[in-house]
Amino acid sequence: MIEKFLVTLEESANAVGKTPHNIRDYIQRGRIAKYNLHGEKIQRAKNGELRVDLNEVQAFLRLVNEGQEKHHHAGLDAELGFYGLAERERTKHVHRLHPYLGKFIPQLVEWFLARYFQPDALILDPFMGSGTTLIQANEMNMHAMGIDVSAFNCLVARVKTDSYQVDQARQEILDAEKHVSRFSQRLTSPIPELPLFEESDFELFKQGLLAEANSEYLRTWFAPKTLLEMLYYRRLIEHGDYVYKDLLRVLLSRAVRSCRLIPHDDLATPKHPLPVGVKYWCRKHGRMCIPIDNCITKIHAYSEDTARRIKEFNSLRSAKTTTIIQGDARTIDLSEALEDRKIDGIFTSPPYVGQIDYHDQHIYAYELFNITRHDTLEIGPKCKGKSQKAQQEYVEGIAKVLQNVRQFLKDEANIFIVANDKLGLYPEIAKQANLVIADQFQRAVTKRTQKGDDPYQETIFLLKKDNH
Ligand SMILES: C[S@@+](CC[C@H](N)C(=O)[O-])C[C@H]1O[C@@H](n2cnc3c(N)ncnc32)[C@H](O)[C@@H]1O
Repeated sequence: MIEKFLVTLEESANAVGKTPHNIRDYIQRGRIAKYNLHGEKIQRAKNGELRVDLNEVQAFLRLVNEGQEKHHHAGLDAELGFYGLAERERTKHVHRLHPYLGKFIPQLVEWFLARYFQPDALILDPFMGSGTTLIQANEMNMHAMGIDVSAFNCLVARVKTDSYQVDQARQEILDAEKHVSRFSQRLTSPIPELPLFEESDFELFKQGLLAEANSEYLRTWFAPKTLLEMLYYRRLIEHGDYVYKDLLRVLLSRAVRSCRLIPHDDLATPKHPLPVGVKYWCRKHGRMCIPIDNCITKIHAYSEDTARRIKEFNSLRSAKTTTIIQGDARTIDLSEALEDRKIDGIFTSPPYVGQIDYHDQHIYAYELFNITRHDTLEIGPKCKGKSQKAQQEYVEGIAKVLQNVRQFLKDEANIFIVANDKLGLYPEIAKQANLVIADQFQRAVTKRTQKGDDPYQETIFLLKKDNH
C-alpha cells in the first residue's frame, strides 16, 4: 500500500506549484480525495482538519501532464462556482444582518431568477430559512413568498425584507446602544456624572434583571457581565418607545450569539459552554484566547453595521410584495395569502437529511426572547441521523411539501431545488410529488456565507409538473 503524505491545501499547492483554489477544485471535481488528520477518507471535514494526500495530488497531475487525465470534466457548470466573488459581495447589505448556518449565496438565486423568470413574477421558497430568495427576488422586481417552520428564521427574514424609515431606524439603534453602553460603564465603575442609580438601588436593579434570566441556558452560557448587558438591552426593547423592536431583537441576537462562553472558532455548533476566563487554543486567531466576557463590544460592532446594511438594501428594494408565513410547508394552506394568484416558480434549498438542527442552531435566541419552538416539525433534522428510516422519512417529507404547494403553481412553473444529494434521493422525491426532473446543474461550492474550508458539490434540480 502506498503511504499517504497528508498535507493542508496550502501545503499541497506550494509543493506542486498550484494555488489552494486549484486543489479545492480537484476535490470538488472528484479528482482527489478528502482526508482527516488520521488519513481516513471523509465526506465532510470539520473546520481545520481537511487534508489531502500529496502523493495522490502528484499522481493526478502526472496523468494530466501525460494527457491521460483532465482537470475539468466532472460536468460542473463553471459559472455557478462564482469563483472570483469577494466575501463582501456574498454577504452584501442585509444578507449579513444575522448569521445562519446553511444559507445559499444571493448570486446563485440571482443567476436562476434572471434566466427563468420575468419581473413581476411570484416566487415561492417553501424552506425560506433566513430569506435569501425573498431578498433577491424583491431586488429583481419580483414578488416573493416564504414559508419556514422556525419562528426565529421568520423573524430574521421579516427584519431583512422589511422596508424602513432608515433615519428613524438608525436613531433607535444608536439610542439603544447609548443606553446599554452607559449601563455597561456603570457595571465596571461608578461614574458620578452618570447618576443613573444610587449604589444600593443599582444592586437591587441588577438583581431584578438577573431574576428575568429564567432559563438554565441563559444562566450557564454567558459570563455575568454579558448576561446583565443583554438582559438590560432586552428590557430596553420591551419597555422602550421604539418602532423597530424586531430590528433591535435581531441586532441583539447577533451580538448574543457572538458572546456565548465558547471558543471563537466554534460559533456555529458549540456543544458546551467554557468556564469564565479559561484559556484555550483558538484556531481562528492562532493563539491562546479566553471566551468573551461582555456583550457591549459586540453591540458596538453591530449597531452602526446594522443601520448601514438596512439603508443599503432600502435603496435597492422594489415595491413588490414579500410575504412570510410561519408553519409546516407540508400542510400549510396558501390560498388566503395568494388571493387566487398562481405562483410562477420556486427557488429553494431544503434541509438535507441528518445535517442541521435548525432550531437548535439559534437556541440562544429562542431562550432570550422566549420564542415557541417547533423542532418536531423539522424535516430531516440532524438529531434523527441518516439511517434508512431517516432517509425514508426525509423523502416523504420533502415530497409532501412539493405536493402541497403544487396546487398553487402555474402549470409551466419552474421549480428549482438546490441540494447536496449525495444519497441520490431526489429522483424518488420528484416521483412521489408527481414532478419530473427536467434539468440538473452541478456546481462547486467554494463560496459559502459561513466560513469553512470543506469544499463540496451540489446539484440544482429543475423540476416541472408532470402534466401528462
Ligand atoms: C437549508 S435551509 C434554507 C436556507 C435558505 N435558503 C437561506 O438562504 O437562508 C432549510 C430550512 O427549512 C426549514 N424547514 C425544515 N422543515 C420544515 C418544514 N416542515 N416546513 C417549513 N420549513 C422547514 C428549516 O427551518 C430551514 O430554515
